[in-house]
Amino acid sequence: MRSKTDHLEYYGRLKDFPLPVSRETGTLLYMLARSCCARSIVEFGTSFGISTLHLAAALRDNGGGHLIATEFEPSKIDRASKNFTEGGLIDLVEIREGDALQTLSSGLPDRIDLLLLDGAKALYCEVLDLVESRLRPGAFLVADNADYSPDYLARVRSPENGYLSVPFAADVELSMRT
Ligand SMILES: C[S@@+](CC[C@H](N)C(=O)[O-])C[C@H]1O[C@@H](n2cnc3c(N)ncnc32)[C@H](O)[C@@H]1O
Repeated sequence: MRSKTDHLEYYGRLKDFPLPVSRETGTLLYMLARSCCARSIVEFGTSFGISTLHLAAALRDNGGGHLIATEFEPSKIDRASKNFTEGGLIDLVEIREGDALQTLSSGLPDRIDLLLLDGAKALYCEVLDLVESRLRPGAFLVADNADYSPDYLARVRSPENGYLSVPFAADVELSMRT
């Protein structure tokens, strides 16, 4: 799935599957959001909202905040909304429906503490382009299955681009804005 449009068909076929981050990555997301005292989080690729629940729980335990979630499959958005309501976290989550390249192109907060990349892998760099100027120094970036996005890995692994970055476990790239 290397093309920038293949993902529409690919994720359309997978619309009934949650495709969640691993349990360990969920815990990592909670830990990172707590430890950087996150108040403002952006998530690319929400699906049923498993990763979102971990991040929003951290916002709650940090005293509140705002999480922008993005998803283009309407049935997944319904399901995620129900999960956020049942989890008592809906007040912390804004779900932007549609292609994240559009929905994240405006209306971003001035300061973002944590970015999760878990949508179409071919778009990681383009999503980062939209968000990068808002990332505060020390902000965390978590990219799931980033091996499928070599251009993203090259970018965050080059310190001159303003990141420190390490592979984390088998499937996650953990980076920090310097
Ligand atoms: C791997 S799943 C996300 C799983 C979720 N982060 C979790 O851990 O529960 C990827 C999701 O991103 C969505 N997606 C992919 N590309 C997208 C795009 N360009 N805009 C919005 N959503 C997208 C897909 O529909 C799919 O539901």
